[in-house]
Amino acid sequence: MGRSATRSSRLRYGRGQQAVGETGRPAGRRAAHVVDPAEAAFAVARINLAAFDNLTFHHAATEDVELAPASCDFGYSLGVLHHIPDTRSAMADCVRLLKPGAPLRVYLYYRFDNRPAWFRAVWRVSDLVRRGIHRMPAGAKLAATDAIAVGVYWPLSRFARILERAGRGPSWLPLSHYRRHSLKTLRTDSRDRFGTPLEQRFNRDEVRAMMTEAGLEYIWFSDEEPYLVAVGRKK
Ligand SMILES: C[S@@+](CC[C@H](N)C(=O)[O-])C[C@H]1O[C@@H](n2cnc3c(N)ncnc32)[C@H](O)[C@@H]1O
Repeated sequence: MGRSATRSSRLRYGRGQQAVGETGRPAGRRAAHVVDPAEAAFAVARINLAAFDNLTFHHAATEDVELAPASCDFGYSLGVLHHIPDTRSAMADCVRLLKPGAPLRVYLYYRFDNRPAWFRAVWRVSDLVRRGIHRMPAGAKLAATDAIAVGVYWPLSRFARILERAGRGPSWLPLSHYRRHSLKTLRTDSRDRFGTPLEQRFNRDEVRAMMTEAGLEYIWFSDEEPYLVAVGRKK
C-alpha cells in the first residue's frame, strides 16, 4: 500500500493510493495492487504510473477491497490511515491481506510529542485553519491550500534551507522538512493537510499498539522525519 517513508526513497503511486504487492507472476516484475476509493486519485495515478504494466487498480476502501486474505508479499500505506476514522480497523484490514512474514510499511502523522509547546501551539492554530478550509468548495479549497503552500510552506522551507547551508540546524523550524522539496510537493502536501476533513495524530506507543493488535511483529520506527514511519512483519 502506498506512500513514501522518506519522500526521496519512496515508490510514488500518485496521490491517494495504497498498493499491495503480490506474487502473481513467476518472473520479472510482480503484480501490484493500487487501492483507493477516490476516482480523482486514480486519474492522477494512471498518469503517474503509465510506465508500469503490472498494476491492478482497485476502486475500493481498505475495508472492502476484493483481494484474497494472506495473498500479498508486501504492503504499504503512506499518509492514508490517519485520514480514516477507524485507523485501528483499517490497519487490521491491510494486515489481513499479507502473507505470514510479509512486511507492512506505514506512514502516519505524529503528534509532535518530541516538539516544544510553542510548536504544538502553531499546529493547533493550523488545525483550526484546516477545519475552515476543508469545508470550502473544491476550487476555493485548492486556491486556499495553494496560497498556504506559496505563502507559508515555501518561505519557511527555503529559510530552513538557508539555515542548513549556513551550518545551523533547521529542524526546530516548522516545515523545515520541506527544505529540499519542490513547490509541487509543497502544494500537494498543503492540499493533503488543509483539505482533509479528518486528521488524526498518533505517538509511537499508539502506533506500536495498533500494529501489534493488527498482527504485526518486529516493529521498527524510523528516527527521521517525516514521523511516524514504521515497518512491521505479519506474524
Ligand atoms: C493524503 S492521500 C494519500 C497520499 C498517497 N498515499 C501519496 O503518497 O500520495 C489520502 C488518500 O487516502 C484515500 N483514502 C481515504 N479513505 C480511504 C480508505 N478507507 N481506504 C483506502 N484509501 C482511503 C483518499 O482517497 C486519498 O487518496
